[in-house]
Formats: sequence, C-alpha cells, structure tokens
Amino acid sequence: EWIIGDLAGGMIASLKAEIGDRRVLSALSGGVDSAVASVLVHKAIGDNLTCIFVDHGMLRKNEAERVLQVYRDEFGMNLIFVDAKERFLSKLKGVTDPEEKRKIIGTEFIRVFEEEAAKIGSPEILVQGTIYPDVIESGVGHANTIKSHHNVGGLPENMAFTKIVEPLRGLFKDEVRALGVALGIPASQVWRQPFPGPGLAVRILGEITPYKLKIVQDSDAILREEIAAAGLERDIWQYFTVLPNVRSVGVMGDGRTYDELVAIRAVTSSDAMTVDFARIPYEILAKISSRIIAEVDHVNRVVYDVTSKPPGTIEWE
Ligand code: XMP
Repeated sequence: EWIIGDLAGGMIASLKAEIGDRRVLSALSGGVDSAVASVLVHKAIGDNLTCIFVDHGMLRKNEAERVLQVYRDEFGMNLIFVDAKERFLSKLKGVTDPEEKRKIIGTEFIRVFEEEAAKIGSPEILVQGTIYPDVIESGVGHANTIKSHHNVGGLPENMAFTKIVEPLRGLFKDEVRALGVALGIPASQVWRQPFPGPGLAVRILGEITPYKLKIVQDSDAILREEIAAAGLERDIWQYFTVLPNVRSVGVMGDGRTYDELVAIRAVTSSDAMTVDFARIPYEILAKISSRIIAEVDHVNRVVYDVTSKPPGTIEWE
C-alpha cells in the first residue's frame, strides 16, 4: 500500500512538472482508467483540469448521478455534465443494426465533446486513461475485428491537442485499481465492472426506445443489487441484463400475458477474450428472476445465458 502511495506522489509531482500551467481536458466516462488518470491530473493541477462527462442516455440506472457525486462533489473536480440523452435518442431513432448504432454513438460522442471543449476555449492538452494492455493491444493490430470497439471517449480527430497525457501507460489493471484506492476513489468505482462505450445500446436488440431503456435499466439495477448482496461482485467479470426484443406468453393471476423477455448475462473471465458463463447459484438466480418479474413493468419471463466465448461474445450485439 505505501509503495502505491509513493507511486501516486511521484506521478502527481511529475505531472505537475510536465503540464505546468497549461489547461487540460478529460473525457470522464465513469470507468476506472479514465477516473484514476483524471484524479491524478486533478491532484497535480487542480482546476486547470476540466472533465467532460457526456450522458448519452444509455448508461445504467443512477450511473450519471453517482459519477457527479464522487468526482464533482467529493473530489471537487471541475466537471462539465452534458445531458445529451435526447440528442442521442433522436439520432438512433429507427436504427437497428448493431454496428450502425455503435458508429452513431461514437461519432455523436465526439461531436458533443468537441462542442463542449470549444465553449471553454479548447484546452491544449488531453488526458487519457490508456493502460499497458491497451498499448500492447493496439500494437498488434486487430486485423479481424469482430465488433468495432469504439471506446467512447476515444480521441476526437478534429481537435488540435498539442499534447496527450497518459499517466497510466505503464500500469496493469490491478495496479490501476490499487492506485485508485490509494487516491481515495470509492471501492464501488475502483471495482466497477467493464462497461462498453455504447452502453445499453448493445444490450437492447434492435431499435432503442425509452420504453426499452427503462426495462434494461431497471432489471440491470436489480441484478446488480442481488449480485452485491450475494458478495459475488468481484468473482464475476461482467453481469448485466439484455432485452432481446422478444415477447412470450405468460400467466398473471387469472389472465394471460404477452410481454417482454429479459436475459441475464454473467461471465467469468480474466481478459474478456475467452469467457465462461458464471455459475451463479440457482437460489440467487431464482431471487433475481422473481424480483425482475415482480418489479419491472412489462417483463413476464427471465432466461439465463449459458454460452461461453467463443463461440458467443459477452455482449449480445
Ligand atoms: P464482446 O461482446 O466482443 O466484448 O465479447 C468484449 C468486451 O468488450 C466490451 N465491448 C465494448 N466496449 N465499445 C466498448 O468500449 C464497444 O463497442 C464494445 N463492445 C463490446 C464488452 O463489454 C466486453 O467487456
């Protein structure tokens, strides 16, 4: 612990020297890497760092509020919150193709980011949460991209930054987490499961509508609560719900229902390249299923995805 504490002190000092009194911009996503990188830079240069957080409407329930609470209220960071929900939803209206959805979200994200940066006079330095495995990965080159992984928060192409600062370039994920803890970032953020840039858009098959978003957000919140209550958070790599856009028949009281199906996806992995479905105990699955059906409107059936990767992928789109 004290070694990591020393590391943080050294990194902050060298960031201070490297940046001087220039202004820095950060795209805060709520993810561990961008958060740790931004907190380091904040500790080095204070309000000369501006963080932009874009709510594209496809975040998990209460996620935006939590990010604001931690980084703006608790850390006192200079954070611009952009509520772009309507803007993204209208761009995505009628779009059903997964890659098309990713492309729209990636492009729109950069536009929003550029607009906000321009409003504050376009700082000349960008901080990014690149970690060592990202450096290696981009070196090999992904010739056969199975899905385009637009990491929302990626580098805006039209912005003229004179410098990119990547304080985590030499670190592995576990070191980034230890650093996050040493910097006082809450455990809930430091141990956050990976979340794709396009967010819930790739967990709603077909067109994205507010009706479907609410079902995925509410069911996902219940799943997360129960996984936390069971103490399984750190054992499962990713866990979330999916809305496959399928309706099926059920019974409720004396009546027949014809309503939505929700799938639970939970996987164990160490790198997301190969995964196995998580062996969540049946009693916990039973509780999650009955809570989702009882508490989330329009859901009458819950299924568990028992596919490994390969041949399945983690996300459904
Ligand atoms: P798949 O579904 O390909 O996912 O097995 C592997 C990992 O990547 C995440 N993922 C994404 N991350 N933008 C991202 O930033 C994307 O478009 C995207 N698609 C998948 C996924 O959550 C998993 O961790």
